[in-house]
Amino acid sequence: MKNRKVVSKIAVLTSGGDSPGMNAAIRAVVRTASHFNLECYGVMEGYNGLIHDDFVRMGPRAVKHIINQGGTILKSARSPEFRTREARAEAHKNLDKYGIDGLVCIGGDGTFTGAKIFGEEYDTRVIGIPGTIDNDIFGTDNTIGYDTALNTAVDAIDKIRDTATSHNRVFFVEVMGRDAGFIALNSGVASGALDILIPERTDSLEEMFKTFRKAHKTGKSSSIVVVAESEKLGGVYDLAKATGEEFPDFDIRVTVLGHIQRGGSPSCADRVLASRLGFGAVEGLLRGENKVMAGLRSGKLVFTPIAEAIKKRHEIDEELLKISEVLAM
Ligand code: F6P
Repeated sequence: MKNRKVVSKIAVLTSGGDSPGMNAAIRAVVRTASHFNLECYGVMEGYNGLIHDDFVRMGPRAVKHIINQGGTILKSARSPEFRTREARAEAHKNLDKYGIDGLVCIGGDGTFTGAKIFGEEYDTRVIGIPGTIDNDIFGTDNTIGYDTALNTAVDAIDKIRDTATSHNRVFFVEVMGRDAGFIALNSGVASGALDILIPERTDSLEEMFKTFRKAHKTGKSSSIVVVAESEKLGGVYDLAKATGEEFPDFDIRVTVLGHIQRGGSPSCADRVLASRLGFGAVEGLLRGENKVMAGLRSGKLVFTPIAEAIKKRHEIDEELLKISEVLAM
């Protein structure tokens, strides 16, 4: 049919752990849809809203004043229900009811796994936008929320440094990253950590102790060790305990930054990234893209098959890892 659009009505959802900038992405999707005269719906609470028919019609004014807000106005959830074939059939029935033929899924690898399966089972066109603080998605240099989380972590570690210095203390600071050390490595470098422990590298206690001894010899009186939550040596409390046993004179404290890294107003970089990817996703759908993720690599919008985005690993920067070791003393 001449001039028939590839998609005519779209829906957008946020799923998995929320991340700062998801709202900016929703805004970009809704307004780009409006620009191209596409009807747009928001789905509440990720895939749960698809299954339980929780849709809201969204026009450009529905997303006013949210570009600067953390969290997600659509709410988010990890949906075990969506793993069942019956629930996905229900979701498809609901999409059909509204005549929605394009679905924008904002989230991380769990979200994309759901999108991939759904896209393979049904003719609804699906497109992913990477939104997670972990930055562990292949096919984009940065995920939405990562930059903000990084800045939150650095800000917190800077504050910890003040008190660590005043009391000549050693602090073990745990940062988020389910299976990835991006936040740990980059916040560690940015905050001048003595050591950085990440899951991508096999560390040993002895190596860490060596680093402490070396630093001590040069007169270092306080230290920060940044530890990714998923590092392999047993967790931040065990690390602190083992260090205390090796260096009984050390005055050691542990801080777990936790979910503060997921909140807050998105950084400028995250707002711009979210705006570009939100726009890119809708434009991509209109150009016929399907079962792909919109990402930004070296400043360019690229589409990566969702299957690849899930399967391949976003590699940590080995050079930065080296630099962190050279500079920490
Ligand atoms: O994936 C984002 C993330 O914040 C991880 O860094 C963390 O391991 C996980 O989510 C925490 O999930 P929840 O909020 O469900 O405890």
